[in-house]
Amino acid sequence: MSNYHIKTVEEYHQAYRRSVQDPESFWGEIARENFVWQKPWDTVLNWDFTKPEVSWFEGAQLNITENCIDRHLPTRGDKTAILFEPNDPSEAAQKITYREMYARVCQFANVLRDMEVQKGDRVCIYLPMIPELAISVLACARIGAIHSVVFAGFSATALSTRINDCDCKMVITSDGSFRGNKTIDLKGIVDEALENCDGVEKVLVAKRVHSEVTMKEGRDHWLQPLLDVASEDCIPEVMNAEDPLFILYTSGSTGMPKGMVHSTAGYMVYTAYTFKNVFQYEEEDIYWCTADIGWITGHSYIVYGPLANGATTVIFEGVPTYPDWGRFWQIVEKHKITQFYTAPTAIRALAKQDIGFVEKYDLSSLKVLGTVGEPINEEAWHWYDDNIGKGNSPIVDTWWQTETGGIMISPIPFVTPTIPTFATLPLPGIQPCLMDESGNELTATRASGRLCIKFPWPAMARTIWGNHQRYKNTYFSIFDNKYFTGDGALRDNTGNYRITGRVDDVIIVSGHNLGTAPIEDAVDEHPAVAESAIVGFPHDVKGNALYGYVILKEMGESRDHTNLRKEINQLITERIGPIAKLDKIQFTSGLPKTRSGKIMRRILRKIAAGDSENLGDISTLLNPEVVADIKKNVI
Ligand code: WT7
Repeated sequence: MSNYHIKTVEEYHQAYRRSVQDPESFWGEIARENFVWQKPWDTVLNWDFTKPEVSWFEGAQLNITENCIDRHLPTRGDKTAILFEPNDPSEAAQKITYREMYARVCQFANVLRDMEVQKGDRVCIYLPMIPELAISVLACARIGAIHSVVFAGFSATALSTRINDCDCKMVITSDGSFRGNKTIDLKGIVDEALENCDGVEKVLVAKRVHSEVTMKEGRDHWLQPLLDVASEDCIPEVMNAEDPLFILYTSGSTGMPKGMVHSTAGYMVYTAYTFKNVFQYEEEDIYWCTADIGWITGHSYIVYGPLANGATTVIFEGVPTYPDWGRFWQIVEKHKITQFYTAPTAIRALAKQDIGFVEKYDLSSLKVLGTVGEPINEEAWHWYDDNIGKGNSPIVDTWWQTETGGIMISPIPFVTPTIPTFATLPLPGIQPCLMDESGNELTATRASGRLCIKFPWPAMARTIWGNHQRYKNTYFSIFDNKYFTGDGALRDNTGNYRITGRVDDVIIVSGHNLGTAPIEDAVDEHPAVAESAIVGFPHDVKGNALYGYVILKEMGESRDHTNLRKEINQLITERIGPIAKLDKIQFTSGLPKTRSGKIMRRILRKIAAGDSENLGDISTLLNPEVVADIKKNVI
């Protein structure tokens, strides 16, 4: 019997127990029975968290695109693989069948091969949410090139940093992108980024907005004419199980963004298995995840997980506000969406609008609702449950990370219970634990601490590109022999987990993971700024928003503060992107520091949150007097 699809609570408990008692036979059986392999593995799992080294299905050979496309052709050739809904609702939606996907991915892969992209080369993809984005991702996988998708809302500086970090030789982009009533000049951003990227030899440009762009002779090529003459068959590269499939950058508390490296076989098995179960996907369903493919949610649960299951997955180009706040619900009605997966920040923003935007549409096709990216508050959970699910579509609050590759803790709808604000139970194969600050595991069922994972799972990131030491330091050195998530959590007396939020300097703003360090670097670049510190504070739509404390140089003190705030946010937009702009900027004469010179962010966080009465003992600070001044001028 295959234990791939869990349908009852007994099956869940049985699968979970087996996955802990005998993980190799558990994952070996799932891998063997549900995927196509060119060569089977020698060992299911090798691991050592002290190095750390983890390998799954060592010795096996496969190509993930054969699993996502080729094998579906006999039974699902005419089924829609990708349902593309354009930004403008008056433009026709496109249905791309599995057979068409096969031809388009092969053609694209042949274009890449013609341009001398080889197995192991890195290709940066900087595209809007159009079918070419998913197709280019799969084309890279077809020939064994490592894709590094950069979210097309990032600035030229952020793009060039990511291109250079993993030494991409090619960039795939488009002339521009549509977002609501705006058109964004993506090619211009790429051109600016490439002024600082010597390693990029070729740029492929898809046409989307039909704007005038400059093409650099020898470097830039229009994509379509090359596709038109490419063969519709492309022999897939034979990949080893542990060959890197992609790199995806995520913010850390300090330093450069981290290029998380994901492997081929383990990632495929885990994302496919979790997609099937967490969304209880059935053959006729139309599944929609509103994330961008530029984030891990899109990689795992728009592209790879759904396609490995032969699903129909929606790619939506636009924004929830265009042409009005009813757009999401209009799309649900239009395409009879069965599973809808979005972020708490979107739910909170939608809940603030007139309920007429929801009531106008027939949402009765919905079966499962999902949320991801940050803790969902109780009010938003109930609004989602009552108004979108009408009380009969279970909400899966899915906790996971770029690093984990796939969903880790989540209800299984119709199988395990949902509890507002709780991600609930670990999926089979996942062994979470809670640790106290001195490194002891909390063994009581009811407990609250730092969330770690004790045992490897197939989709975990294997390293940070070019910096294994940093991978070890960040995830495996805080607690012995455990993966540290950076999150705090509490566990109730029946073993359900509630994620309480980050315990480090990563701030989640509207579901986007932002490190403070690069934003502070951008602020400090302003000629009038001497020093800055950025913290998060609670925000009713974004979850957290950013609060900047800025010390000005003498020359800045006479400047108009409104203009200075604008200039600082402009710099952040240029260096990182608009998502990292500061909601509040307070100019201050000093920052509270420890005697060793470290900024006491705890104090700054409390003041920004309006909780400046309980700052605790500040007498050990180097400069306790600045605290009163900061409190007085809080915004
Ligand atoms: C961080 C990871 C994984 C896809 C999107 C974010 C927070 C994620 C939840 C949830 C509470 C959550 C955590 C995590 N997070 N999902 N359901 N409940 N918090 O990926 O950008 O790598 O961010 O997002 O703090 O560590 P990411």
